[in-house]
Amino acid sequence: MTTANKKLSSARLTQPTDKFVEEFTASVQFDQRMFRQDIRGSIAHATMLAEVKVLTIEERDQIIAGLQQIEQEIESGDFEWSIAQEDVHMNIEARLIALIGEVGKKLHTGRSRNDQVATDVRLYLRDMIDPIGQQLNRLQEALLNVAEREADTIMPGFTHLQTAQPVTFGHHMMAWYEMLVRDAERLEDCAKRVNSLPLGAAALAGTTFPIDREMTASLLGFDRICLNSLDAVSDRDFAIEFNSFASILMMHLSRFSEELIIWSSAQFDFVDLGDAFCTGSSIMPQKKNPDVPELIRGKTSRVYGNMFNLLTLMKNQPLAYNKDNQEDKEPLFDTIDTLLGSLRVYADMMSVITVKADNMRQAALRGYATATDLADYLVRKGTPFRDAHEVVGLSVAYGIKHKKDLSELTLEELQQFSANIEQDVFEVLTLEGSVAARNHLGGTAPEQVKAAIQKARRQR
Ligand code: ARG
Repeated sequence: MTTANKKLSSARLTQPTDKFVEEFTASVQFDQRMFRQDIRGSIAHATMLAEVKVLTIEERDQIIAGLQQIEQEIESGDFEWSIAQEDVHMNIEARLIALIGEVGKKLHTGRSRNDQVATDVRLYLRDMIDPIGQQLNRLQEALLNVAEREADTIMPGFTHLQTAQPVTFGHHMMAWYEMLVRDAERLEDCAKRVNSLPLGAAALAGTTFPIDREMTASLLGFDRICLNSLDAVSDRDFAIEFNSFASILMMHLSRFSEELIIWSSAQFDFVDLGDAFCTGSSIMPQKKNPDVPELIRGKTSRVYGNMFNLLTLMKNQPLAYNKDNQEDKEPLFDTIDTLLGSLRVYADMMSVITVKADNMRQAALRGYATATDLADYLVRKGTPFRDAHEVVGLSVAYGIKHKKDLSELTLEELQQFSANIEQDVFEVLTLEGSVAARNHLGGTAPEQVKAAIQKARRQR
């Protein structure tokens, strides 16, 4: 990067910018990643200007050819970015003037960097929403596949991280899936407000040229236009909304991660994450650490940080554009990068996860997970619920003392606590009986899980 070029925007200033201030106020180091969007926006702007006869057809064509050449230069690494030109917009414009001469100076007619940058950020985010949606979709698909494979696999379900009632692993995967359905809805909703065109607002008040904003919007694929010029250049709600979607999604991934970390411990040993997603320890030869879920749990905090960054950035800005807004890019880009990486690795990881059904089953048996089923059984036989609760409490205490699960007690042993218990009690005390009995919409029965998977697949 050089600082040599002559500045485009400083005729009014008699003194050159302080060298350090020049670097301090520049954004080209991080906003150059929007070069494609900047060029696309400029081509649309020039096209519109020619349609309304502010530019001639020849001028338009020269400008477009120049911009296309610049895009190739940047793609191939032949472009010299300059700190003195401050940002991606002025770097490209300066190069355009160097390439095509006087005509290049006409491109900026009827626009300002204020509406230009707002347009570029929206275009960039819109371009990134697609791959993010695709990765989210891949993860959902991976979860559906695991859920399908493990629809009958029984595990202990937890409340307070204590064994509560048996559930199927497929049901647990579908719980994760549901969380992601809401994330996908939020992304789609936020995309609507991202896809609104600020260009035409110029610096803040609009322009004296006879511009056609509808045309620019349709050329760039925007389906709305920012209707107030002051709001158009200063609105960053769309970035905050996107980051808010991202924060909730990362919170979900972080919760999944917490479970995977617990489940892959030697004490639980419910799942194997696959060697490709873990690392060893430099000192302890036995270790296989769940680095990927741990790192995603960690990265959640930076997305939350970006959320606060953006909210705080906006909270006391008067209308319209303020230079503060240059600070919107790094947190937004960081959130985009973090999300793309996290979703991608999560989808890959969930595609190869192995489930240890025997260990889950043993764990479910150890925790008296069918105690509620016994209480419900007694209620069906005429025992009031509170009494049933006590009978089961006594039965569990007896089981603990004799190191037996409820299903391993004999009928005589169980009948010590209630005369209402009969031979058919064993149907409800098994893990299979317990999950199969929860056979209603949203319940954990394998039949319901399979129906939920089918429904999800139909809606995709
Ligand atoms: N680099 C600036 C930004 O990121 C572009 C807009 C600058 N506009 C201005 N009037 N200084 O927001």
